[in-house]
Amino acid sequence: MKSFKLGVLTDLHLAPPRSPSAEFNRPVERGRSRELLDAALQTMDSDIEALLVLGDFADRPVVDEYARAVQRFGMLDVPVYVIPGNHDVPRSGEKDSLSAALSGPRHVQQLHAQGIPGLDADLLAGGLVREGEGFRMTRCDEALSRRTSRTLTLWATHFPVLSTADEIARRGWEYAGDAGNHDFVRASLTALETPVIALTGHLHIRSHAISSNILQLTHGALAEAPHDATTVTIERVADRITVRRTARPVAQTLTGPAAAVIDACDTTFVWDGSRWSDQGSAPYRSEGR
Ligand SMILES: [Fe+2]
Repeated sequence: MKSFKLGVLTDLHLAPPRSPSAEFNRPVERGRSRELLDAALQTMDSDIEALLVLGDFADRPVVDEYARAVQRFGMLDVPVYVIPGNHDVPRSGEKDSLSAALSGPRHVQQLHAQGIPGLDADLLAGGLVREGEGFRMTRCDEALSRRTSRTLTLWATHFPVLSTADEIARRGWEYAGDAGNHDFVRASLTALETPVIALTGHLHIRSHAISSNILQLTHGALAEAPHDATTVTIERVADRITVRRTARPVAQTLTGPAAAVIDACDTTFVWDGSRWSDQGSAPYRSEGR
């Protein structure tokens, strides 16, 4: 059996203490963001093989905020891969603070393409650029050309590849929005035909979606309830791939409505050689919070 265990954090919205919360589905607790990162790193399993940060690393793209977090990641003994979210992408004329903070030769780096030999897979970053008032993901061709495996692709993007706007709207929640070209990216990944695990953030809603060869795991935010620190364990036996996601909320939800969450903390998905299936995503319960 081949396996790989990945830690995942997203939507940290790091900011100085006493920063006011922003209102989304629940408060985005920017003033607690550094404290929440500390809690997440203390919660993270000691046997993860890498940590992936799926964007909105800082609330504003400030070098010092990234540098502080990079130093904090020093307590982990594994590589840390970061991709930008919309809050991290510089406006035209601004410098790229995230890239500047991650430019040194150290164990925290911006993700581009990383082979995972133990799993015969690749971890690839989908890029993100501003497009007027919106965003689009950069073309997939270059990232896909860096594949070392033709059997399994882990695709890390801040914005979803599979839109769940309708489902979120049906639940009465705010939807953070799709990138302008998500359909193009979905079509590019679908054309691979081999299984793709899309690891995404942005929505601040723990959920998943399946379409054709793509399993999309959207992770709960750290700065907003459910305040998730997540591990994703991928196991392969021949053509069969099992994906187990375990989310651990690292802080109490404040009083008021429950977190905007669709999936339970523990979810399992299986690729049987031709399709993905959901093996036990029980409806979310409040889990005593
Ligand atoms: Fe965010």
